[in-house]
Amino acid sequence: MPCKNSPLYGGFRADFAPVEGTRLASCASVRPFSLLLFTAACSAQGVPPVDQPSRGAATALSPAEALDRDPRPDVVAVTLTAEAVDRELEPGRTVHLAGYSGSVPGPLIRAKPGVLLQVHLENHLTEPTTLHFHGVRVPNAMDGVPDMTQPAVLPGQSFDYSFVLPDAGLYWYHPHYDSVAELGSGLYGPILVEDPNDEPELGDEVVLVLSDLGVDEHGDPLPPASTPDDIVSGSEGGIVLVNGLVHPRLEVGVGRRLRLRIVNAARSRYFKLGMAGHSFVVIGGDGGRFSAPLTVTEPVVTPGERLDLLVTPSGAAGSSVELVARAVSRGMPLPASAEAPLVGLELVANERSASPPLPSLERALAPLATAGAAEVPIALTLNADDTSVVMGIDGVPGDEAEPVHALVGSTEVLVVSNMTPYNHPFHLHGFFFEPRADDGSPLAVIERKDTIDVPPVSRVKLAVTYDDRPGMWMFHCHILDHAEAGMMGMLHVMR
Ligand code: C2O
Ligand code: CU
Repeated sequence: MPCKNSPLYGGFRADFAPVEGTRLASCASVRPFSLLLFTAACSAQGVPPVDQPSRGAATALSPAEALDRDPRPDVVAVTLTAEAVDRELEPGRTVHLAGYSGSVPGPLIRAKPGVLLQVHLENHLTEPTTLHFHGVRVPNAMDGVPDMTQPAVLPGQSFDYSFVLPDAGLYWYHPHYDSVAELGSGLYGPILVEDPNDEPELGDEVVLVLSDLGVDEHGDPLPPASTPDDIVSGSEGGIVLVNGLVHPRLEVGVGRRLRLRIVNAARSRYFKLGMAGHSFVVIGGDGGRFSAPLTVTEPVVTPGERLDLLVTPSGAAGSSVELVARAVSRGMPLPASAEAPLVGLELVANERSASPPLPSLERALAPLATAGAAEVPIALTLNADDTSVVMGIDGVPGDEAEPVHALVGSTEVLVVSNMTPYNHPFHLHGFFFEPRADDGSPLAVIERKDTIDVPPVSRVKLAVTYDDRPGMWMFHCHILDHAEAGMMGMLHVMR
């Protein structure tokens, strides 16, 4: 296992969770339970969201918001304490997780573009940790990669992150140390940078942080995958979590449109969203709004990705409709159960008027100028036998690879080829890319992304401009077992 204890990713550490008990074959014993059980636990930290007419009742399910300790309008200062969190998943069944400031997911950090975000991280875990601000165009020193951009934050220590949030969009924070174990234990949280140009009354906003959880019979997180098969499959816990809850309910006024801001914080699980009889209007993704909306029946959000969706649940007061996750194969046999319920949407008599018709939703977003841009090949590779698995970039595991070099100010086209029979969500730190057609031309809908699914034996072309933030940046598969097994590389951006 070449990447065990890799300095870049922290390796995997079987001592993070007690290795006792057996892997549960399924979590059939976990029954859906009501949102009410956890409302108190979820709102214990942070402050109630500011009342805004475009949000309203729907925010009841969104994660509690982080308390901003700085009164200045252009500074948001929060403390995140990484610590053990015990949660009663159902009466008598407690799981031992980790979270930020007592909550799983961590508190929602809400800000506007141009705001200075200061995060004081306190490590009250028994393991080192860091914070990576997934998708945010941070200065390199704030990227949270242990032993590359900062030392790991040891138990009992703290670290201060400080940077401007340049772009509107939904982002998230998570450790970049021993990521399979730390994310799998509940360490992740959302950052919503509101877009001042959003049209009024787009929909009642709900932030949904999707993840999953695998625990043993003591309620301790299962250790990370260790056999070649399990590593190739990627860790998927049998308990699907929405904002840390199992199958929560949400009341929706009849005729009210929802704006679902979704982040996939799972280690491996892809979520293919569905609502019987409905389709979604996708208006944005990782790096904010699209140039134009897309209507999609089953939008997929891969680990690390975000989606900005509009949907108006139809039906009369008293009826309900399920937001579900449909099975995704990722190159493997489809799981037995075809779908998992995510959120029960319960229609209630509307106290407010129905949502107005959708505005045009177009955005001025120019494609990057790529005339003459160099194409940079990156191949995602896998070498496995019965006893070992090595994933890599161009056949070389991350800790042995030479960095890819690039110049500040240049524009390149990354050609990411998946040489394996499995899907991989490719993630680039620090910079947005713009997905292109296979001939390199811009797509009909322009999008800024930092994570993209690369289907089996296929390639994607990603245009990227390196703005003036030199340093060593990572790229890796966001199936975290794959990253740990070597599917990661470094991009050295130089002046
Ligand atoms: Cu979510 Cu290396 O990142
Ligand atoms: Cu992968």
